[in-house]
Amino acid sequence: MAKLRKAVLPVAGLGTRVLPATKVIPKEMLPVFDRPALQYVIDEAAAAGIEHFVFVTGRNKGAIEDYFDSAFELDATLHAKGKTALLDELRALLPEAGRCSFVRQQAPLGLGHAVWCARDLVGDEPFAVMLPDMIMVSDPPCLAQMVTAHAQTGGNIISVEAVPPEDVSKYGIVDVGGPSGGGMKTLKGMVEKPTMAEAPSNLMISGRYILQPRIFKLLADQGAGAGGEIQLTDAMARLMGDDAFHAFEFTGRTYDTGSKIGYLEAYLALALEHPDHGSEAAAMIKAFAEKL
Ligand code: UTP
Repeated sequence: MAKLRKAVLPVAGLGTRVLPATKVIPKEMLPVFDRPALQYVIDEAAAAGIEHFVFVTGRNKGAIEDYFDSAFELDATLHAKGKTALLDELRALLPEAGRCSFVRQQAPLGLGHAVWCARDLVGDEPFAVMLPDMIMVSDPPCLAQMVTAHAQTGGNIISVEAVPPEDVSKYGIVDVGGPSGGGMKTLKGMVEKPTMAEAPSNLMISGRYILQPRIFKLLADQGAGAGGEIQLTDAMARLMGDDAFHAFEFTGRTYDTGSKIGYLEAYLALALEHPDHGSEAAAMIKAFAEKL
């Protein structure tokens, strides 16, 4: 089976739920404690063996491209000041030259359209899609677990996660059947942002996908769906008749940095997990809570 080499990271959305911060800062670059949200997702991709990162960017997203480049003045200053440990830390975060590609989505027409914009850079091979505003924490990381399952089953894999029934209208929701191999279940259907009555389950599509390149043909003529946007869910639902789809139920912790409260939760949780600063952060949060 072909190795999964490429991940598409759609970062062209407007991030309206986190305005005003996102007026000038891409939401994927908002710091979650000491690094941008996007860094956690890149680390997850690298741990799954991904070799090439395809960023679908848009206007006002230049900071993302700069983040994945070396910063000559900063490097020179750190070097001159003898801050070599910090310099090494920064260099270790940088993907090797030639491993990042950037393509523009000229208008934020929806996630499905953003993924379609990556078609030429992905080519004719299976690929991952990772939503960079969803930080997923587990050991082994989510995408690595999906890659292991994919080696057993092939096909298309979507990570899913249980949400409270009253929240189904915020997400893509799936209908699952029996076991399909690799510890996964057969995916029978999916619907974007259903009402509680329409929802086939309370399992949301949580932001990691392994897809076959056939999806690009369907995305090419996919009309607008929920919210007037070209939805990846709608194109996947059409492909489902012809191609195997599996639901991978993720059991780690998922933080949605795309809303203000989700961002706060991610920030606190990842500060608490930081190897150097976690205990200080815990003491600070406890002291703060006692004053409430
Ligand atoms: P979201 O729907 O969470 O992002 O898409 P958004 O549209 O930026 O957020 P709000 O609703 O206005 O607050 C999930 C991911 O898909 C990207 C986003 O950048 C985000 O990382 N996306 C979304 C695109 O790249 N293009 C789009 O047209 C839509």
